[in-house]
Amino acid sequence: MTDNEEIYRDILDGLSVYFGSALISDLLDTTAQYPSSALGNAFNRNQMRSKVWLVDKLHDLTQGRLGTVFILGGWYGVLSSILLNDRRFDCDQVVSVDIDNSCKLVAETLNRRYVADRKFLAVTADMLEFDFPIEKKSSRNAVIINTSCEHIPDFDTWYRRLPGDALITLQSNDFYSCSEHINCVSDLTAFKQQAPLRECLYEGELALKKYTRFMLIGRK
Ligand SMILES: C[S@@+](CC[C@H](N)C(=O)[O-])C[C@H]1O[C@@H](n2cnc3c(N)ncnc32)[C@H](O)[C@@H]1O
Repeated sequence: MTDNEEIYRDILDGLSVYFGSALISDLLDTTAQYPSSALGNAFNRNQMRSKVWLVDKLHDLTQGRLGTVFILGGWYGVLSSILLNDRRFDCDQVVSVDIDNSCKLVAETLNRRYVADRKFLAVTADMLEFDFPIEKKSSRNAVIINTSCEHIPDFDTWYRRLPGDALITLQSNDFYSCSEHINCVSDLTAFKQQAPLRECLYEGELALKKYTRFMLIGRK
C-alpha cells in the first residue's frame, strides 16, 4: 500500500467510526478486496448526489416501507447498500441485477452483512430478459429501480416488459459524450416520452458537473 492509500484508508476508517457508518466501513473492506474495480467511479460525487436524491424522494413517497426492491443495472450494489443502511427504510429484500458478472462478488462484499439472511441478493442477468419473481398480491409494494436507463439500447422492449403495479423509479441523463451511453435523453420531456407513466408521482432534474440527471417515479 502506498503512503497516500494508507492515509485515505485511515481517514475512511476514522470517518466510519465518527458517522457510525457501516456503509463506509464495508466500502473500505470492499476496496481492499477489489482494488482494481471501478468503485471510485461508483462512489463519485455525481453518482452519490444522484442516489441520495433518489432515496430522499422515494422516502417522501413511501415513508420508507418497501417490499422487494429490484435494482437493474445495479453495478457494484452501491444503491442497494445506501438503501439497506438507511434506517428510514424497511425493505423486504433488495435484488441487484447486472449483466456484468464481475459486479456480483463486489456487490455481495459491499452488502455482506445483508447476504446471509437474503435481505440482499446479487444476480447476474440481462435486464431485458429478467423475469420479476413478484406475486400478484405483493406487486404494489415492489419497487423497480433503473438508474442506468442511458445504457439500455432496446429501452422500449425493456419498459414494455415491466409489471404494471410496481412502483417504478428511473434515472437517465444527457451525458452524450460518454461512449457507453447509447440511450441518453436531451431533457425531462424526452425522458417522459420514453417512459410514459399512467401515475407520475415525481419528476425532476438535478444539475451535476458535466451533465443533468433526470428522474421519474410512478406507476406504468
Ligand atoms: C456504469 S453503471 C451505472 C450507471 C448509473 N448512473 C448508476 O449509477 O446506476 C451501468 C451498469 O449497467 C449495467 N448494464 C448495462 N446493460 C445492462 C443490461 N442489459 N442488463 C443489466 N445490466 C446492464 C452495466 O453492466 C453497468 O454495471
